[in-house]
Amino acid sequence: MSLDDLVTALEQSHLAAWVSSSPLILGALSGFHLIGFTLVVGTALVSGLHMMGVAFADRPSREVIAIAVRVMVAGIALSVLTGIVQVSPRAGAALANWIFVAKMTLLAGAIAAQVVVPRFAARADAGTVFELRVWSVVTTILWLAVGVMGAAFILLE
Ligand code: HEM
Repeated sequence: MSLDDLVTALEQSHLAAWVSSSPLILGALSGFHLIGFTLVVGTALVSGLHMMGVAFADRPSREVIAIAVRVMVAGIALSVLTGIVQVSPRAGAALANWIFVAKMTLLAGAIAAQVVVPRFAARADAGTVFELRVWSVVTTILWLAVGVMGAAFILLE
């Protein structure tokens, strides 16, 4: 199945018809999408501030990052799921839009960068704290950029 087939199948699905059937559905999905975004950026900020020694400074990094990652995974799952449902009636148009494509590229980059953080955290006691700080800032910026591109997609679409 090619990408075109997948896009056509998504646009003609019952899911797409359901989303298009009422603006309230899109509004609710958008609300849950934003809750997901808040969970992701919130936990990225908390773990970043922890690595700066500002938040939960008395707790071991391994512990703080492990909890943050769990909440973040829930946020990513929520925003990816609601994002796919929201875009289903106009998947083709979205994929032809550079802002949406940039957002998906940033999303892939943010997830890839995020996967590295717990690995640093596991080694944090062995003197890799500086790398962890840099990486926390990088991931937070990437997540914020995903959100900015999400908002830009609505405003400039
Ligand atoms: C496969 C993944 C995703 C898809 C397909 C997707 C799709 C979309 C779409 C279609 C919109 C516009 C909604 C509208 O017209 O009202 C949007 C908005 C937005 N997206 Fe995503 N998104 C995804 C993942 C994410 C992630 C992971 C984040 C951040 C962590 C995010 C953050 C936002 C924000 C902040 C907005 C603007 C506010 C809103 O409408 O909720 N998106 N996204």
